[in-house]
Amino acid sequence: MNIAPDSSGAPVLFGFPEITFFLVEIGKGTMKMRNKQRKSPALNFDAGYRCSLCFILWSLVGFGLIIFFVSVKHQEDSGQTHIYFSRLPTTRELEDVEEEHFRLPPPHKVNPRAVKRRGTRKQPKVIEDYLDESSAVHAMFFPDQRTAVDPRKGGNDSMYFYPGRVWLDTDGKPIQAHGGGIMYDQKTTRFYWYGENKDGPTYQAHSKGAQRVDIIGVSCYSSKNLWSWTHEGIVLPGEPNNVTHDLHKSKVLERPKVVYNDHTGKYVMWMHVDDANYTKASVGVAVSNSPIGPFKYLYSFRPQGFESRDMTIFKDDDGTAYVFYSSRDNTELHVSPLTKDYLHITAAMKRILIRRHREAPAVFKLQGTYYMITSGCSGWAPNRALAHAANSIMGPWETLGNPSVGGNRFFRLTTFLSQSTFVLPLPDLPGTFIFLADRWNPSNLRDSRYIWLPLFIGGLADEPLDYSFGFPLWSRVSIYWHRKWRLPEGWREGYN
Ligand code: DGJ
Repeated sequence: MNIAPDSSGAPVLFGFPEITFFLVEIGKGTMKMRNKQRKSPALNFDAGYRCSLCFILWSLVGFGLIIFFVSVKHQEDSGQTHIYFSRLPTTRELEDVEEEHFRLPPPHKVNPRAVKRRGTRKQPKVIEDYLDESSAVHAMFFPDQRTAVDPRKGGNDSMYFYPGRVWLDTDGKPIQAHGGGIMYDQKTTRFYWYGENKDGPTYQAHSKGAQRVDIIGVSCYSSKNLWSWTHEGIVLPGEPNNVTHDLHKSKVLERPKVVYNDHTGKYVMWMHVDDANYTKASVGVAVSNSPIGPFKYLYSFRPQGFESRDMTIFKDDDGTAYVFYSSRDNTELHVSPLTKDYLHITAAMKRILIRRHREAPAVFKLQGTYYMITSGCSGWAPNRALAHAANSIMGPWETLGNPSVGGNRFFRLTTFLSQSTFVLPLPDLPGTFIFLADRWNPSNLRDSRYIWLPLFIGGLADEPLDYSFGFPLWSRVSIYWHRKWRLPEGWREGYN
C-alpha cells in the first residue's frame, strides 16, 4: 500500500480516500481544541476533559493504523495485491449498470388442492409463483421458443447472449447442458461445454423428494466463439438397465466438469453422483482420450469419507487441480487437491466457509487471488449469490458480498433468478470472465434456461471481512445484468 502526501501535505492512502479523509478531519478537530485551550486557560476541567478525549481519539487512530498496516504487511508478505482496479476500454460497456424495471403480475390464485399437495409454504410467495409453471410470473422469465437464440439465423442478433431465453444449438434443438462447465481445449482450439442432459419428463420419485428427471447423461457441445454450439453427443450416458450402477437412470448425475491433464493427455470428468434421495452424496470420475468422448466411467467415492454434493473442479496455473464440494449436510465446503493424474484426491483437505450453508461453487483466479461464487441452499429455487476470495486456494476463504449488479432488487436477491455453475475466464481478455448459471424450471427441468453474464473483478469489496478487521482489502466481484449483450468485437473476430 502506497502512502504519499497530497497537495496540502496530508498523507493519502492510495485506494482508501475515505480513510484519508477521516484522518485529516480528526487532525483538524484536535488542532482546533488546542487553540481554544490557549485562549481560555481558566477552563481547566474542560481542557483536561478535552485532552483525554484527544488522547483517546489519537490512540484509536493509532490502533487503527497499526492494525491496518499489519493487515497490509500480511497481504504483502504473501506476495499478493488484492485490490484490482483495471478496466479494459474494450469491455467497459459490459460493466454498465443496466436497470431492469418490471411489474410483477398479481399473485397467482392457488388451487387449494395444490397447496395441500405441496404442504406449508417455505418460499416467499413471489418465488412460489415464479416456480409454478402455470403462473404469469413464471411466463415472464421463461419466454417461449419464439424468442429463442438461434445460431442458424444471421442478422443483427448474431452473437448476442439473451439470458433466460431458449438457446438453440446448430441443429436448432434447445441446448441441454445444465449444471455445466466449459473447458477450452488448446489442441482443437475449441470450447467444450459439458452439462446435464435433462431432456426427459420431470417427476417426483417420492412425495417429499425433489423434482427430478432420469439420468440421460452428460451432453457435450463445442464452439469456436461461445455463442454458436454444435452438439457433440452424449459423452457419458446414463445406464438404462443395471440398477446397481452409479449412473442407473433412477439416480442422480449433476454438475459435470472436465479438465485436461497435461501429464497423461487425458480428459478427466468429475461429477456429483447420488441416489434419488441425495443420500449417497459422492463424487464420480470418468476419463476420455478425446474432449468429445466417449468417457469411461471409473468409480464414485466420498472424499475422505465426507458427504459430497454440489461440486466443481478448478485447474490452477501450475497444473494442480482441486475439487470443491459441499459437505456435512451442505453446512460447509471442502477443498482437496487431486492427484497428478486427476483420478483421485490427495490426503490434504481443508474445511472452508464453515456454517455458511453454501453450494453451487464456481472457482476462478485473477492475479494470484482465488475467487469463488456460491449460492445458498434452497433446492431448485433461486437465492442470493455470494462472492468469496482467498490468498491460498486451501483457504482461509473470505466472503465479499453479493456480486449481482444492476437489474433490480428482486433480481439481485435471486442472482437474476439463477444459480451459479461455472465462471469462465476469457482467453486473450485478462480480467474478463463469463458467469454461467442455471435458471431452473423445477416443474419442467428440461426447460431450465442459462444465464450467462459478464463478470469483472475491481474496486473495493463491500462487506466487512472476517480476517481483515473490517478493512476492505479485496477487490469486488461484480456480475453485471444485461438483457442482451455480446463479447467485444475484437474478441469475436479472433474467435471465429
Ligand atoms: C441444488 C443443487 O445446486 C442442484 O444441483 C440440485 O442438486 C438441486 N439442489 C436439487 O434440488
